[in-house]
Amino acid sequence: MCGIVGVLGTHEAAPLLVEALGRLEYRGYDSAGIATLDEGRLGRRRAVGKLVNLSDKLVHEPLRGHSGIGHTRWATHGAPTEANAHPHAGARVAVVHNGIIENYRELREELSARGIGTSTDTDTETVALLCQLYLDQQMPPREAAAATIAKLEGAYALCFLFEDEPDLLIAARKGSPLAIGHGEGEMFVGSDAIALGNLTDRITYLDEGDRAEVTRAGVVIFDAQGREVTRPEKRIAQAAAQVDKAGHKHFMAKEIAEQPRVLAAALGHYLTPEGRIALPEPCIDFTAIDRLTLVACGTAFYACNVAKYWFEQVARLPVEIDVASEFRYREPPMPARSAALFVSQSGETADTLAALRYAKGQGAQILSVVNVTESSIARDSDIALPILAGAEIGVASTKAFTCQLLVLGALALEAARQRGTIDEATLAAHLQGLRALPGLIDQGLSIEAECQRVSRGLAEARDILFLGRGRMYPLALEGALKLKEISYIHAEAYASGELKHGPIALVDEHVPVIVMAPHDELFDKTVSNMQEVMARGGKVLLITDTKGARIAGDGTWEVITLPEIDPLWAPILYAVPAQLLAYHTAVAKGTDVDQPRNLAKSVTVE
Ligand code: G6P
Repeated sequence: MCGIVGVLGTHEAAPLLVEALGRLEYRGYDSAGIATLDEGRLGRRRAVGKLVNLSDKLVHEPLRGHSGIGHTRWATHGAPTEANAHPHAGARVAVVHNGIIENYRELREELSARGIGTSTDTDTETVALLCQLYLDQQMPPREAAAATIAKLEGAYALCFLFEDEPDLLIAARKGSPLAIGHGEGEMFVGSDAIALGNLTDRITYLDEGDRAEVTRAGVVIFDAQGREVTRPEKRIAQAAAQVDKAGHKHFMAKEIAEQPRVLAAALGHYLTPEGRIALPEPCIDFTAIDRLTLVACGTAFYACNVAKYWFEQVARLPVEIDVASEFRYREPPMPARSAALFVSQSGETADTLAALRYAKGQGAQILSVVNVTESSIARDSDIALPILAGAEIGVASTKAFTCQLLVLGALALEAARQRGTIDEATLAAHLQGLRALPGLIDQGLSIEAECQRVSRGLAEARDILFLGRGRMYPLALEGALKLKEISYIHAEAYASGELKHGPIALVDEHVPVIVMAPHDELFDKTVSNMQEVMARGGKVLLITDTKGARIAGDGTWEVITLPEIDPLWAPILYAVPAQLLAYHTAVAKGTDVDQPRNLAKSVTVE
């Protein structure tokens, strides 16, 4: 979603701003803009579409000056037009914003009552105009910004730039993340450390409600109560801020290929060298709870769906599961002996964060499984478990999904151990299975050429069905999501047993049906459903292992064969063909794989 950057530099700011915005492209956006101070005067350039349009504009209409702010906008209020693109401005102030100002209608009315009209459809314009009003009332910029921020309701990360103030940026955070970057005689503001990756590795994260006065000499931070506070400065590892494709055509391809390595890193964190589970201390007491609530959005939600099978089957722990946007408004009661676990790659998804705060308000113990350890969700959790996937840039989540599964799998085994629902030998076997994963995924990646070939056929389809049973049902859901989000082909997933309750009506020779079925205890049942499809002329792509292919491969359209695996962990391995089929179908269709239309990487508005 929207990305923010601010520069108080010693060189021309415009190229730095555009470069930093490029590093924020992965979040998803549909217009971009910058503002700089040229000899104290505010100048703005904005353009619809990709960043290259803004760069082109800057070639013909350059902006000079060492101080500036920039923004990539993912439209919420108002279409992605140049007028609605940020920065928004009054006569002497420019503002960039990530989030939603919920009281913008009231603010508009207040402004209108004073004869101040708006010229865009956005909520953000009211912030700029309100600040301008305070400047007109002779408030100095710092006070005008503070007074403006005090009037805002909703979620925001904001950065203000003032005319005739080349050594000042005001940044504020409530509900959307924001970081301050420290340079040598330079200072920066960015939505995250990735944005500032080429500018500095010294970062101070703002806390909820913080307002920061940034000058080249440093930063002064005030908390929500207006007290001056100190927030720690951290050094960000180079790798965390690295956003290159390492020779791959797309970030998604790179991230798929990285899975053996990042899974091995996560295993190193969660298993001791002797192969026992190692969770951070103190961790959750699974004998003290009778229910676990799992909440997330998107791909992370499907990871929760898989984990439900693990916690229930292996640890005999009842699991409630919901998408965050439903959970937060459903107001579910949370029994005393329960815990809630939130899964999020970014750690900033607005609905997941709100759901977490609801559960916290209900007195539940809060766990999270996150990739970004500095994120709001991690900070608000009693226990935050990192997935150690490294920066994930492709909008379609891949390595974060398999790493989430690995951490959830280790947690489910720990729950089973604590609750005494697993014997030593079975536990050791499943742990051994987990340790084998990086190697199996590596072998699994060798099906890429086959997936590429099959994907040419999939790319011709208008609709595609995915089927799975038991632990493979969530994988079918994830496969359909992955495919539709990047190839724009309509794809739906069903529990295999549900097929004859409706979706079988869709089956004909034009609708490929992708069946995910390792040779496990439910294999025969799934194969029966697959036969029902083939009996009606359906075109089946069976994804299975050698045994499964031997038994059920006949009469299918295609078979993709994966290595044999402990059936418990099959969802982690079977994520690979789901990812590769989506990727190669999207490439065959020529879509924008890493930044599919309308989607955002981190959904910071509800
Ligand atoms: C967006 C992304 C998905 C992601 C979902 C949840 O929709 O495009 O890839 O799965 O948000 O994001 P989170 O950061 O909370 O895992």
